[in-house]
Order: sequence, then C-alpha cells, then structure tokens
Amino acid sequence: MKPDLPIAFALGILLGACGDDSPARDVDATPPTSPDAAVDPPPTDPALAAATRMIEEGRATFRYDTFGDEAFWGGTLRLHEAVRTLGPVDALGLGLKVDVAALPEDVIAALAAGQVDLEDPATTMLLLRANAVVGVTGFFGDDDSLASIGIQCALCHSTVDDSFAPGLGARLDGWPNRDLNVGGIIAAAPDLSALTGLLGVDDATLRTVLGSWGPGKFDAAVLLDGKAFRPDGGSAATLLPPAYGLAGVDGHTYTGWGGVTYWNAFVANLEMQGQGTFYDPRLDDADRFPIAAANGFGHKRVAEDRVTAKLPALQFYQLALEAPAAPAGSFDEAAAARGEALFMGDAQCSSCHVPPLYTEPGWNRHTAAEIGIDDFQAQRSPDQRYRTTPLRGLFTRQKGGFYHDGRFATLADVIDHYDAHGSLGLTADQKLDLIEYLKSL
Ligand code: HEC
Ligand code: HEC
Repeated sequence: MKPDLPIAFALGILLGACGDDSPARDVDATPPTSPDAAVDPPPTDPALAAATRMIEEGRATFRYDTFGDEAFWGGTLRLHEAVRTLGPVDALGLGLKVDVAALPEDVIAALAAGQVDLEDPATTMLLLRANAVVGVTGFFGDDDSLASIGIQCALCHSTVDDSFAPGLGARLDGWPNRDLNVGGIIAAAPDLSALTGLLGVDDATLRTVLGSWGPGKFDAAVLLDGKAFRPDGGSAATLLPPAYGLAGVDGHTYTGWGGVTYWNAFVANLEMQGQGTFYDPRLDDADRFPIAAANGFGHKRVAEDRVTAKLPALQFYQLALEAPAAPAGSFDEAAAARGEALFMGDAQCSSCHVPPLYTEPGWNRHTAAEIGIDDFQAQRSPDQRYRTTPLRGLFTRQKGGFYHDGRFATLADVIDHYDAHGSLGLTADQKLDLIEYLKSL
C-alpha cells in the first residue's frame, strides 16, 4: 500500500538528503535562508527524524494498540463469545470495516472471485487473524479459538474507502465511522453486569440505552454521570467526530473537555478501559459526575501502565492527520465562492469559525444560548460550554446529521437554524450558496 502522504514526504526528504553527498550542496555552505535549505535539510536533523518516528509509532498505536483493554471487552464482557458466532455479513451490518491491505493475496483473490462464505463465522476468524478488522484485535488461545478481544482508536475514528466492496477497502485514518453501531456491538456481549453495576440499572434498561444510540454514535459521558437520555427523551449519545484536522485547535470534544492528549488519555483509560494512569480532579464533583466521583475515575492507577508512554506519539500522529479535501465535483464552485463571501461577511459565521482553523484561535467554547440550543450536553462537561466545531472535511460526515447529537439532519437545517437564531435574513439562494461553501471545506 502507498504510504500516507506526510510520511512519504518526510521519508522523501530524508532519503533525498542521505543520498546527496555532492560537495556543491555542502550544508555548511548553504545559507539557512536559501530555498534549498527548506527542501533538503541536513540528514541529521533531529526534529525531522523524531517527527517521522513519532508518526509511525503514533499510527501503530492509533490503529493497533488495545492498551490492554481486552481484559475488559473479552475478559469482563466476554464480547469475543458473541464475535465467535458472527459472520462477516453481520459484522459489516454492525458497521465494522475491513482493511483489505492486511489480507493475504489468496484471500483477496478468493473474495474477488466470490469464493468466500461471508455468512460463516470462520471467515470472521480469518479476518481477525489477519488483523484486518479495523479497530478490533482478536486474541487467539492455544486451541486456536478466539480467546479474547480488544478495541482501538481506529474502531470509531477510521473507516475504509470501500474500494474493494462496501465496507472493504483501504484505511482512512481519522475519518469518523458513521456506520458503526457501538451500542449494538456492546449489547452483543453476553455479560453486561460490569456496566449495569456501575450505572445502577438492570440489564434490560442498559440494553434499551445501548439500542437508543444508533449508528455513528456513542455516549462518552454516560459512565460518568449516568444520564442516558436528554430531557426531551432523545438519546444522550453524540456523533463520532473526526480525529483529523485537529492541529491548531484548542478545546476538543463537542463540549471542550480538554486538549487532544487530555482526551486521548481520557478515552484510553475510561472509555476503552485500557490499563493506564489518569488524573482529572474535576471528575470528583459528585453532583455533576456521580458515577465517576464514586468510582474514583479521576484518580486511576494500575500496576502496569500501558497508556501513558504512548500518548506523545499518539497525539503527534493525530495532529499530522490533515482534513481531507472535498473531492472535485462534489460541490458547485461558483456557488461556494459566493457562499464564502457570506460566511466571512453578512452571515457572521467566521466570527466563530475562523479560517483556516474554522474554530477560534484561543478558548473556543460558547454557551448554549450563544448558538441557540439547549444546554443539556454542555452541562455534562466541566466548562458547561459547546466547542466551536472545526468545519474542514465536512463532506466525510454527511451521515448522522450535524451538531453534537446530529439534531440537524442536513446542512440546510443548520443554516436555517443560524438564520432564525441570528435573525440573519438570508435569502433562499444565499442559503444554497452557504451550503455549497460548507461542502467545499
Ligand atoms: C467507541 C468509540 C470511540 C473510540 C474507541 C474512541 N473514540 Fe474518540 N471520540 C468518540 C466520541 C463519541 C467522541 C466525542 C465525545 C464528545 O464530544 O463528548 C470522541 C472524541 C475524540 C476526540 C476529540 C475530537 C474533536 O473534535 O475535538 C479525539 C481527539 C479522540 N476522540 C481521539 C481518540 C483516540 C486517540 C482514541 C483511542 C485512544 C479514541 N478517540 C477512541 C468515540 C470514540
Ligand atoms: C457563536 C459562535 C458561532 C457562530 C457565529 C457560528 N457557529 Fe457554527 N458552530 C458553533 C458551535 C459552538 C458549534 C457546535 C454545536 C454543537 O455541536 O452542538 C457549531 C457547529 C456548526 C456546524 C456543525 C458541524 C458538525 O460537524 O456537526 C456547522 C455546519 C456550522 N457550525 C456552520 C456554521 C455556519 C454556516 C455559520 C454561519 C451562518 C455558523 N456556523 C456560525 C459556533 C458558531
């Protein structure tokens, strides 16, 4: 498979520099401001070497590291017992994706020839053995049967390009998997008693909650506050956001819990249930986070920390994932140009979505009243605010709706909301132009 662009670029620079021993390009003789210095740095540039190493390490962690969470998903919930009975068709139905590049040639050929039984759980085992199920690792026992299962960041924050078949293709790291039915996957586990115990609810209630999430959503706060439904009765889950385009952005998550590495540590420890250390005394607030406070989630320590050492490279990798550019032809360029003028001008969007970040440089949080919605989800976070969503790569997340809980089904609904809330008086044509601009980002 072709290496990702930033790596290819960095390696190209390194290799180019290493192969060059011509005295005319002696680094000492090259003034630092020369254009050559930018494309041909000294081979020993420690920052560049570290960047390449960090990206590779971080990518491996993002894609393949379970942080020991198989002790929970397999050991406690016994999810692998359900997976043993799951054919690939069922797995794809739950939104799981297959990384075709990980499959042996003969399997790819057999798949292409339609000779693989996609209903047979044995095929699922074959995919797991090849480490081809995105974001899921199977652990096989001495008798060769699936003995446990663990999950990775890539489960929710990667998908595939469907180049082989729907659900099968090349990995797209950082793209949210809006097909993934996280609640459905968890509900398949035979033993949910660890979760019902934490939440203080019975099995049937927990299954109702998990069933309420639907594809592309997860509730990262329910294990902290036990709130599973909004006051209007809708699910309290949020959409899976992208993990690309985050460089330069201050607050992360829809409600701005903290920086990228804060949230990475949070998720690895408290959501994925990896084996690590985590500190956040804000979770000691028993009024707002009763479950977290009662269980000391803000003070997690384990004998063998399998998370902390991986945080630097993991953050570095995410920051290197740029938002993908909208495909040519996926929007109307003339309309988008008119929409851009509105975005920066009369529609006042850029007062918060400041280009090129499309969030505010600085403290990028707002009260619910400022954006004209209810404060339920904001109240579930420490700052009680909503974070201005960075808008690049919107075209990758057309499924599931917009805003943290997907309350606006389409971009037209988003624009209508801002139009009414801000009394912008946009015409129908102006609204269409704004939509084309958003699709172009
Ligand atoms: C079960 C699905 C799931 C898994 C696994 C998962 N995440 Fe997330 N992630 C989410 C959801 C949902 C949110 C939004 C949470 C919120 O806003 O309340 C999120 C938010 C984020 C954000 C903030 C994005 C933004 O817009 O600012 C980052 C960064 C992130 N996750 C990184 C990771 C990393 C790194 C891992 C692995 C250690 C990981 N996630 C594992 C579901 C997941
Ligand atoms: C006062 C600051 C502010 C202004 C002004 C503003 N936004 Fe937003 N925008 C936000 C916040 C905060 C969110 C996150 C809301 C949520 O997730 O519930 C958001 C979310 C969005 C989203 C959803 C992104 C996603 O992935 O779900 C879109 C699209 C958007 N804004 C477009 C616009 C447009 C177009 C305008 C101008 C008409 C605009 N915004 C004006 C703060 C603002």
